[in-house]
Amino acid sequence: MTVDYINNEKQKGKPLLVADHLYKYYGDFPAVNDVSFRIDYGEIIGLVGDNGAGKSTLLKLLAGYHKPDKGSLYFKGEKVNFKSPYDARISGIEIVYQDLALISTMPIYRNIYLSFEKKKGIFLDKKRMKQESEKFLKSLGIKVDPDKLAGELSGGQRQLVAIARALMFNASLILLDEPTSALSVYEANEVLNFVKRVINETYKDNASAIIVSHNIYHVYSIATRILVMDQGKLVLDVKRGDMGPTEMEEYIVKITRERAVH
Ligand SMILES: Nc1ncnc2c1ncn2[C@@H]1O[C@H](COP(=O)(O)OP(=O)(O)O)[C@@H](O)[C@H]1O
Ligand SMILES: [Mg+2]
Repeated sequence: MTVDYINNEKQKGKPLLVADHLYKYYGDFPAVNDVSFRIDYGEIIGLVGDNGAGKSTLLKLLAGYHKPDKGSLYFKGEKVNFKSPYDARISGIEIVYQDLALISTMPIYRNIYLSFEKKKGIFLDKKRMKQESEKFLKSLGIKVDPDKLAGELSGGQRQLVAIARALMFNASLILLDEPTSALSVYEANEVLNFVKRVINETYKDNASAIIVSHNIYHVYSIATRILVMDQGKLVLDVKRGDMGPTEMEEYIVKITRERAVH
């Protein structure tokens, strides 16, 4: 399905997204405070930081749910002004939320096609949606029966299906907000490895992902780069190999402690 249409031209080295001095206020409070960074193709970014650091707000800016109060966003070389999540989605940015939006009482194939249902005349074309979901999930290596209710899936499988749904629309940037927070260690690894495989193999490095976590150790192993936020600011932007997870954790603790002293 959509995966067939991916432009496999190597885009590595070109910026996929540039955030230039972004700000987002809730009232007077700067939840995102002067944040700038760049993402290239084929990257898996671990975005970490304490609760309230501004990670989810930053993702919402990239996904068109909020408009930045100041600053600019560039996507695939063009300045973008997303007015809604729909705009971001059309451009190729998909977000998967923490408390994901799968409907438990609906079968998987209906969840996959939610709000983009295939129709035959005035009726839902269930047969086609079922067949295409099955083919699509299989192409991504997800072994679930599309007829099963989403509510019957394990937490990890739910995440995989939610991510697969985001991939239906050929996203170039996939945003994952705390995808592992409610999972067992085994399931969390399964989900992270899935993201890595999708970016590197299915998309052949022509897409990137940002994975939010409040725990550096959860994302370190699969990330190509780590961004750390603290109180709305981006305080660290390093390649994985340049700093170990323990060192990074110590750095984060140090920042928090210094703040408590001042
Ligand atoms: N809709 C909102 N209205 C007001 N304040 C908010 C809203 N969403 C988040 N905040 C505040 O903005 C800050 C950053 O929140 P958030 O982006 O959710 O952080 P994180 O995802 O890193 O935990 C927090 O202090 C939070 O309380
Ligand atoms: Mg959050």
